[in-house]
Parts: sequence; C-alpha cells; structure tokens
Amino acid sequence: MNVMSKTGIIYSFKSTKTAKIAEKIIQEFEPEFNIQKVDAEELNEEIFLSFTNLILGVPTWFDGELPIYWDEFVPALEDLNLKGKTIAIYGLGNQVEYPENFGDAVGIMAELVTARGAKLVGLTSTEGYAYESSRAEQDNKFLGLVLDQETQPRLTKERLAEWVKDLKKQFK
Ligand SMILES: Cc1cc2nc3c(=O)[nH]c(=O)nc-3n(C[C@H](O)[C@H](O)[C@H](O)COP(=O)(O)O)c2cc1C
Repeated sequence: MNVMSKTGIIYSFKSTKTAKIAEKIIQEFEPEFNIQKVDAEELNEEIFLSFTNLILGVPTWFDGELPIYWDEFVPALEDLNLKGKTIAIYGLGNQVEYPENFGDAVGIMAELVTARGAKLVGLTSTEGYAYESSRAEQDNKFLGLVLDQETQPRLTKERLAEWVKDLKKQFK
C-alpha cells in the first residue's frame, strides 16, 4: 500500500454503517484535507505508523467489545510508540438495545492509544444521548464521536459536521 497522505482513516471496509460514515467524514474534510482510506482488516504496524493524524472507526460489538479485526490488531498496537500521533476515534453503537455498553469500543480504543503516547482529540458532548453506562464516557465527555444510526440517525449529520470542524483545527 502506498501511503500518500498525512491523515488516514482506518475502518473495516466490510462494516457497512461504519464505512458509510467514513465516506461522510472524508467528504466533510474536503477539500482542505486529503484523507487516505485503510481497511482495518488489512492493517499492519507499518501502515499505522505512516500517518501523523489518524481517524479510527470502531463500532461496538459483542456487548461492549471491539470487533474481531480490531481485537486482532491490539497486540501489535500495544507494542507501538504513538508519541507524536494525533488520533480521533468514531464509533457506532445502539443506546436503546445496549444501554449498559453504549459505544464502549470507542473507550477501549481511546485507552489503548493514549497508553501508547498518542494525543487523543475529537472529544464530544454526551448531551442528547440516553444510556446507562459507556466506557466511551470520561468526565462527562465522550472520548470520540459516538453515533447511533439505529435510534438517532437524524442527529448524525450535525454531530459529524461539528466533529470534523474541531478535527480540522487539531490535525497538523
Ligand atoms: C451482536 C451485536 C452486538 C452489539 N453490541 C453493542 C454494544 O455492546 N454496544 C453498542 O453500543 N452497540 C452494540 N451493537 C450495535 C452496533 O454497534 C451497531 O449496530 C452499529 O451500527 C454496527 O455498525 P457496523 O454496521 O459498521 O458494524 C451491537 C450489534 C450487534 C449486532
């Protein structure tokens, strides 16, 4: 894979809703930013480290866990030095069906990358959501953009636009 951009967006190309949101994020960044798409299922350490800015697409599966392809990359991730990397995380979840684990994967990934020295950006307000608990929440903020395409699809456009506006200021 030829990396030609400073900013990469990594998500599974097979993850339907997450992939659709990735396209919307890329559109929102254009034309100021050229964002390279990377399939999380083909990811390796070299590709991950080739970007300065990273956007990670992480839906929550299995009652509060990472999808398998992200889980498989965790041991490699734990060996990386992410100092100097700026990382933003977005994740899909369903607050009605999974109110006790809403968007947990965003929190799991945030913990992993900050422990390796990355700068986490793109924290968002928890206002407007209704759930019981979430590993994505810390000090009344989400550690990324949490979207619910199943029970709040109409709120996505504005949440996403606000988030990208913020990221444009954070990414160098
Ligand atoms: C088996 C299964 C388990 C899920 N577990 C959670 C969960 O624990 N927390 C949550 O917020 N959403 C959960 N969801 C909802 C998904 O995150 C949501 O459907 C998301 O839009 C999937 O995105 P994708 O199509 O890109 O995989 C689960 C969905 C399924 C099918």
